[in-house]
Amino acid sequence: METNDSCNLVDLAIAKQHQKKGYGKKLFCHAIIEAKKLGARKFHLTVREDNLPAISIYNSCHFKIIKKINSYYIDKTNAFVMELCDFQESKN
Ligand SMILES: CC(C)(COP(=O)(O)OP(=O)(O)OC[C@H]1O[C@@H](n2cnc3c(N)ncnc32)[C@H](O)[C@@H]1OP(=O)(O)O)[C@@H](O)C(=O)NCCC(=O)NCCS
Repeated sequence: METNDSCNLVDLAIAKQHQKKGYGKKLFCHAIIEAKKLGARKFHLTVREDNLPAISIYNSCHFKIIKKINSYYIDKTNAFVMELCDFQESKN
């Protein structure tokens, strides 16, 4: 994670055996809170278009899709760039 006034989430991962227990969402919310403490006001990330668990988490934290990048990944899957501009919106 890089922070000044802008924060880029590079990766988010939960061990397979612990997925679907709410940890991913908790970890993501914690990252946002920590970034805010460091002064970040804009948060952005890139996610595979077909990564429904990750997109579900980002949507629930009020991230919006701001751009679609075709064939971004090596297997030609498209990517969404998602952004949160107002940290006050994220209270999850
Ligand atoms: C993405 C990832 C971190 C999610 O972690 P997790 O602990 O399983 O997620 P949670 O249990 O917190 O679930 C968060 C939401 O995703 C939903 N979800 C979880 N698995 C899902 C699936 N397979 N399909 C659709 N939705 C799913 C949950 O229902 C939950 O939604 P809700 O809050 O509306 O109930 C985890 O799947 C992972 O490590 N994936 C591999 C790495 C990865 O793709 N990282 C993202 C890179 S941008």
